[in-house]
Amino acid sequence: MTVLITGGAGYIGSHTARLLTEMGRKVVVLDTLERGYRDAIPGIDLVVGDIADSRTVGKVCRKHHVDSVIHFAAYKAVGESMIEPLRYYKNNVAGSIALVETLLEHDVSRFVFSSSAAVYGTPDIAPVNEDAPLRPQSVYAQTKADIERFLASCDAVGLRSVSLRYFNAAGAHDSGDMGEDWTATANLVPVVMKVLFGASTSLDVFGDDYPTPDGSCVRDYVHVSDLADAHVKALDYLATGGTSMACNVGTGQGTSVKQLITMTESVTGRSLPHKIAPRRAGDPATVFADPTLIRAILGWRATRDLREIITSAYRWHDRHPDGYAR
Ligand SMILES: NC(=O)c1ccc[n+]([C@@H]2O[C@H](COP(=O)([O-])OP(=O)(O)OC[C@H]3O[C@@H](n4cnc5c(N)ncnc54)[C@H](O)[C@@H]3O)[C@@H](O)[C@H]2O)c1
Repeated sequence: MTVLITGGAGYIGSHTARLLTEMGRKVVVLDTLERGYRDAIPGIDLVVGDIADSRTVGKVCRKHHVDSVIHFAAYKAVGESMIEPLRYYKNNVAGSIALVETLLEHDVSRFVFSSSAAVYGTPDIAPVNEDAPLRPQSVYAQTKADIERFLASCDAVGLRSVSLRYFNAAGAHDSGDMGEDWTATANLVPVVMKVLFGASTSLDVFGDDYPTPDGSCVRDYVHVSDLADAHVKALDYLATGGTSMACNVGTGQGTSVKQLITMTESVTGRSLPHKIAPRRAGDPATVFADPTLIRAILGWRATRDLREIITSAYRWHDRHPDGYAR
């Protein structure tokens, strides 16, 4: 039996596909390659196609005897989602619904979904746990909240699911051969690396007057390999009869932008040019996870710290200054 990994040629999906393969599990990746790379998953079965294409998805299910799915495929840029809402709803919401419909036609009943801490919007408290209200503040976050709700209702038709609310995915594979493409993301660690490697001149720190210990925003950075491991645990949970749930995937540790800069300079021995810029609209001061639920139910906890995130990201960008070849 095989795990179908949609969006498995992307950043988090490729790390998860590799981990599962190394564990001896059968996987097949379905990816349009619009924002992913064949070179990210060498030696792994790849079908180039769209989640909304029921003929392709159906064929993959039959040919590979798919029994479970990890659904990464989506667009993920918050800013872009506000400018192109139709594109985001079509791909992230309509695409996911079409995917589930085809899966159910092929008796696939276990589903792990890439959700996001963005569903909480600006939480009232930190750390935030799963009882907090969902108050998405962007089209992107709304599409994640919509699919979480849709999946919860799919219990009635026999689909069991785990929605994993990732906090800030960061870092790269230990091998130095896989990592995040800095051309396609606005996430802080790749943006920091861009400055370090001279692809941009200076890092903007958006606001230093927040009510945080050093005035800069605080987030929860999770190593991508730890995230990959959370998916394995979610699959195993569903395979042993676990019921549908949504849970945080975070370290429980808040890190400020300034702390991340200091860690980067300490790890790399290089100075990171940066300047204070005005706050960005909608940026909460502090967001980090309460990971109690995922520890209790899935037995997952983060094993890598911020130093390993920066070290691995630096290694990846140093060895692959142009990222993956297209
Ligand atoms: N990176 C983060 O910090 C983060 C945080 C929270 C949630 N997430 C979610 O995790 C998932 C993976 O994120 P990522 O950082 O690896 O993103 P990514 O852009 O690197 O990977 C997404 C992959 O999905 C593919 N794809 C998009 N639409 C598709 C479609 N219709 N059919 C088939 N393939 C399609 C893209 O080509 C790409 O390879 C996304 O759903 C994202 O919203 C990411």
